Amino acid sequence: MIRVCFVCLGNICRSPMGELILKKLVKDRGTELSFEITSRGTEAEEGCSVYHKAKRKLEEQGIEGNHIAKQLTRADILNNDYILVMDSSNLFDVLRVSSGAAGDKVYKLCAFTNRPRDIADPWYTGDFDKAYNDIYDGCERFLDFISLERAEALDYDKRH
Ligand code: 4NP
Repeated sequence: MIRVCFVCLGNICRSPMGELILKKLVKDRGTELSFEITSRGTEAEEGCSVYHKAKRKLEEQGIEGNHIAKQLTRADILNNDYILVMDSSNLFDVLRVSSGAAGDKVYKLCAFTNRPRDIADPWYTGDFDKAYNDIYDGCERFLDFISLERAEALDYDKRH
């Protein structure tokens, strides 16, 4: 089982977009049984659904589902294999919350792409198309990385 937690600031735009996109991609690849995928915020809008503009963008792309915002805790860091953050500020906050537990689990999502960069926050930029494209690119490249690094874990689907 490969446990993945996306992290952003509010947990209502970028990280739930990552969660729902990755869930769709692993389902399309027939590997959903091998993954547990969720998301958290470093200053989460606790209890809120996905922001309606992010939800609309996902639905335009045929991606359904919801997520209820939750605050990141140290336990989330301990309980996941990959913590995928959106920007340098998230990275700093995750390392602070982890107080030493992060090990080598924390990656910027776009570090897996050939254009490592921060994923700009659409809550401030208003650009949900760009956020979607950047997150989608990161999720695809993350799965390429996993299929090389964790091939044995992906076999879980074949056994169940
Ligand atoms: P997110 O965007 O980190 O991508 O979920 C934000 C959403 C809400 C707020 C900030 C960022 N806010 O301050 O309410």
